[in-house]
Amino acid sequence: MEKMTLRDIDVQGKRVFVRVDFNVPFNEEGEVADDTRIRAALPTIGYLIDRGARVILASHLGRPKGKPDPRFSLRPVAGRLSALLGREVGFAGDCVGPAAQDSVRAMSDGDVTVLENLRFHPEEEVNDPEFAGAMASLADVYVNDAFGTAHRAHASTAGIPAHIPAVAGFLLEKELTSLGMLVSEPAPPFVAIVGGAKISDKIGVLERLMARADCLIIGGGMANTFLAAQGKDMAQSLVETDRLDVARGLLEKVAREKMDLLLPVDLVAAPSRDQADRREIVDTDSVPEGWMALDIGPRSVELFGKRIREAKTVFWNGPMGLFEVSGFDAGTQGVAEATAESDGVTIIGGGDTVRAINQAGLADRVTHLSTGGGASLKMVEGKKLPGVEALNSR
Ligand code: 3PG
Repeated sequence: MEKMTLRDIDVQGKRVFVRVDFNVPFNEEGEVADDTRIRAALPTIGYLIDRGARVILASHLGRPKGKPDPRFSLRPVAGRLSALLGREVGFAGDCVGPAAQDSVRAMSDGDVTVLENLRFHPEEEVNDPEFAGAMASLADVYVNDAFGTAHRAHASTAGIPAHIPAVAGFLLEKELTSLGMLVSEPAPPFVAIVGGAKISDKIGVLERLMARADCLIIGGGMANTFLAAQGKDMAQSLVETDRLDVARGLLEKVAREKMDLLLPVDLVAAPSRDQADRREIVDTDSVPEGWMALDIGPRSVELFGKRIREAKTVFWNGPMGLFEVSGFDAGTQGVAEATAESDGVTIIGGGDTVRAINQAGLADRVTHLSTGGGASLKMVEGKKLPGVEALNSR
């Protein structure tokens, strides 16, 4: 890797500011509902503890809009981290100022402290240089292990490296290597599957994948917009009417350049999201009046699955339907199974998709589960990530 990593620096007895992505979901009881992102940072944290570094962890959580909000406190995350590490983890009530300074001053070699949510300060998201300087003054060295946030040019990702030596942590390194392979040299056939509700935030990645992948599969809610662009009546299905032109343009390009694009050939439709018991498998041009498509159908699963199983490289982002509702989960489950059965390199990105593969019990059968949603898409799109660009080069 062109950027320096944790292995390239001496951390013994140093104060190390580690930007992690602990933006994790919570359940209704206010407990961490999925600790995948916390676990993913453990190799870096463990390495630093073993070398007697003073480990200062900083993250955002949710979007509290620049002011303190107890609903977005990182305190429960520090609790979960403590349980995972089997040791005490300190907590500072702020990420700058006296609360942070006092907590850091009280640390001994090998201690771990979590700072309060970075986004309680509006300066974080605008990459305010003074705010970045205040955070940098807490530490001797900076480590970025927050792949999920590397596409944001914020003070804690792009700002701190201007002040102290800055390197990549092990999670960031692993993500960049795995996803970088998709951009540089994917073994053919490279099959990309893109799903999820909307095309609006994925246009760049769709264009890129159309050009790079040997076969692009589109499913989930976003397929409705393409089917509507082909002139099909999608009844009450989610269709981005303001993106029909974009979808039409992409379809024309596919036809012109003879690209291999697969859309669903059948759908699972129901009168509403909470009427799975009334669901029916329908052709893409026969969604009943007043009904909506909520999953891809079995013929689509077979069509997509065949291509996925034959692939040497698979990238998948976005579920095929409303997979969290039983009855609308078969399409996503089928794609998860095909991905797990492929003997090529399989890479999955995006919170929902990772949840879906976990739900299917197949997480250990894919090559790489990315902790980044937006960040993984930006990378696949071939864009530079500000949080990576800011790090020291070798
Ligand atoms: C994510 O969950 O995708 C990252 O933590 C980034 O969060 P954000 O979209 O609120 O910047």
